[in-house]
Amino acid sequence: MSTGFAIALLTSEVAPLSKTGGLADVTAALAKHLHAGGHDVRLFTPCYGSVDRAAVAAQPIAGLAALPLAVGPHAYVFSVLRGSLPGNAAPLYLIDCPELYERAAIYTTDPDEHLRFLAFTRAVFAACQRLAWGPQILHCHDWHAAFAPLFLKSSYGKEPLFAATRTLLTIHNIGYQGIFSAAQVADLDLGERAYMLHQGDLAAGRINALRHGILYADAITTVSPTHAREITTDEYGMGMQDSLRARGTALSGILNGVDYDEWDPRRDRYVLQHFDADHLQVKAALKRVFLRRLGLRVGGEVPLAGMVSRLAAQKGIELMYDALPRILDTRELAFIALGAGEPQYEEFFTRLAQRFPRRVVFRRGYDEKLAHWIEATSDLYLMPSRYEPCGLNQMYSLRYGTIPVVRRTGGLADSVEHYNPDTGSGTGVLFNDFDGPAFAWALNLALDLYANPVHCARLRANGMRRDFSWQHQGALYEALYARLIAA
Ligand code: ADP
Ligand code: GLC
Repeated sequence: MSTGFAIALLTSEVAPLSKTGGLADVTAALAKHLHAGGHDVRLFTPCYGSVDRAAVAAQPIAGLAALPLAVGPHAYVFSVLRGSLPGNAAPLYLIDCPELYERAAIYTTDPDEHLRFLAFTRAVFAACQRLAWGPQILHCHDWHAAFAPLFLKSSYGKEPLFAATRTLLTIHNIGYQGIFSAAQVADLDLGERAYMLHQGDLAAGRINALRHGILYADAITTVSPTHAREITTDEYGMGMQDSLRARGTALSGILNGVDYDEWDPRRDRYVLQHFDADHLQVKAALKRVFLRRLGLRVGGEVPLAGMVSRLAAQKGIELMYDALPRILDTRELAFIALGAGEPQYEEFFTRLAQRFPRRVVFRRGYDEKLAHWIEATSDLYLMPSRYEPCGLNQMYSLRYGTIPVVRRTGGLADSVEHYNPDTGSGTGVLFNDFDGPAFAWALNLALDLYANPVHCARLRANGMRRDFSWQHQGALYEALYARLIAA
């Protein structure tokens, strides 16, 4: 018998099964941490067509096969499969509903996108009922699970099973809110409780999933303290600022942790020559191998800047449009970018690689192994985000001795400290303004510091010592769960 809390984690992504970004890393690692801490944590996620069922040893559960599921007027049939993620003992519950989840990608622009995740949310409640398992905490991640607090308050909470259930909404990315037409209000099946919907949005003809999580969750977190403050402002709130401000102290920020089983140069599963702060010559040797493999024709002494990213407006790629070619024209620098997304960013990197074929490589797509090689071998890591709730790659970079060059926003501000050459303290280079000259200033400064052996060594040593492990960050979630349960 577990002595900890009963916690259901509801997430649309979990690594390595279904990942488009950091959400997957965080939910997998948090579940692993909570399970190791003795909690009865159960991870619920959709069973997408791309899910490798054999890799998670997915098994049917007696009594949870071919169940009817009503989502407003829509009728589906779903099953629940039980499995576990590689290297992660937390129990995994896959909501299997081929009609909704066998699509070309995890997220779609199909007209039933909201139904896919409403069905997921309803199915989690139905699964708990069938399992006769009443979670003390429903930890909902992003808009995909954000209707769970409202459903709990409007209906399920009246059942003894859920009478003590408390809800936490974690906002990983406020840029994605799950907005659909008010004409589809019947899909929520709220009946006479429809007054609980945000009336301003309804009057404007829309329903916003994330908004209802903000309104009804017992507590709300986002993934860094700085971002928790930012999203209450007009500049960063993306329309949610008033609702967030209204929740007062129910909103807080908990910086993400890093799963050092996955992201540590001392045991990286993809980069088989391992290193630590005392063996940076191994990093240098790996870099030479990598440069050759990529077909970059520069010597190992030329700094390599790396980037691994979803190519979305959030990531600030446009700050590089003028600055990066100009710096490449005037200074010694090689650059590798890995990512996929919006065409204008892909085109920029494609053209950059064509213009500097000896020094720039762009790999379009998603490649876990290449992502690890970039972290392990790069000298600088570029993250000029417009907004960044937390960001993981800058924290991965620190552990790999790769100096982050980041904009001072959200979790970047909370995890990277600007280097001070007088005191030798700091772990990277930060810039404030969201414009090209500010980015250019930062990259030029980073290149100057890199060229100075004393500063470069200090920066790397400071960064490699930083510890963002789930031991610390997970304890903050446990304390919050405890407060919610005691309230
Ligand atoms: P976000 O969640 O906004 O995408 P994070 O920095 O929190 O940003 O997390 C991004 C995660 O996704 C990291 O683990 C990163 O390595 C990974 N990632 C992003 N794009 C790619 C890609 N093209 N190939 C491999 N991994 C990627
Ligand atoms: C998001 C954010 C990113 C964060 C990740 C995991 O998608 O963009 O900053 O690190 O979620 O919390």
